[in-house]
Amino acid sequence: MTSTGVPAFAPEWLALREGADARARSERAVEQVRGHGRVVADLGCGTGSFGRWLAPRLPETRRWVLVDRDPALLALARESVPVGHVRTRALDLASLRARDLDGVTLVAASALLDLLTRAEVEALAGAVVGAGCPALLTLTVSGRVELSPTDPLDARVGRAFDDHQRRGGRLGPDAVAVTAGVFGGLGARTRAFASPWRLGPEHRDLLRAWLLGWVGAAAEQEPGLAVSAYLERRLEQCGRGRLRATVHHTDLVVLAPRAPDAEAP
Ligand SMILES: C[S@@+](CC[C@H](N)C(=O)[O-])C[C@H]1O[C@@H](n2cnc3c(N)ncnc32)[C@H](O)[C@@H]1O
Repeated sequence: MTSTGVPAFAPEWLALREGADARARSERAVEQVRGHGRVVADLGCGTGSFGRWLAPRLPETRRWVLVDRDPALLALARESVPVGHVRTRALDLASLRARDLDGVTLVAASALLDLLTRAEVEALAGAVVGAGCPALLTLTVSGRVELSPTDPLDARVGRAFDDHQRRGGRLGPDAVAVTAGVFGGLGARTRAFASPWRLGPEHRDLLRAWLLGWVGAAAEQEPGLAVSAYLERRLEQCGRGRLRATVHHTDLVVLAPRAPDAEAP
């Protein structure tokens, strides 16, 4: 968390999750936007993980515009997206407008929507529809987590975590439904694709870090929830390679109505 109350995203965490994100994103969702990626705006780009994954899948790509409010992350991202022409833009998405997407043929975002408020999603949707381009909005948490073996406390921890995600008006697990509704209200069509993380003993470091974050957020949300023994149990199972987790996400494709003066991609 920064001094302004805005969550900061550690590059180490983004690096740890990059492989799981890459395996989880839906190739069928990418199919829907193939051919539209000449100029891509990657919103909430972090260190550029989505660009490293998506750009090689869109052979038509000529330009990549990295957008984030964190200049330190933008500096890391700029060097790593495998596209000839990369530009960065420090911007808070609450103020995104269609003119910020001038010339953009595809809006992309990964692990972003659940962090946004309804007002931020409305700004994003208004800008995308105003620009008349499609969008590929991947890896939004759905609030469903399955652990194996199961534990009687799983559901309570999950509920407290979801409520923590909703703090400050963020959409958390409601993000896909709200975003689809906002786009639908603007006349755009959306399609949802499952993109779960499937974590097991081979992803021990990520599973451990995810577990600490998941249970830690739940405990912060509900200080009365006794999670120490639960966390100890889960970490021990993880350490012995006995724990598996499916963390459900959704990829959303938006096919915006074409703006009257938009050029063909
Ligand atoms: C979970 S990280 C995901 C980063 C990257 N897309 C990835 O998949 O690794 C979320 C990113 O969104 C950015 N972000 C969150 N809210 C934002 C906002 N309102 N305006 C601009 N960037 C925002 C954060 O700075 C962070 O880099």
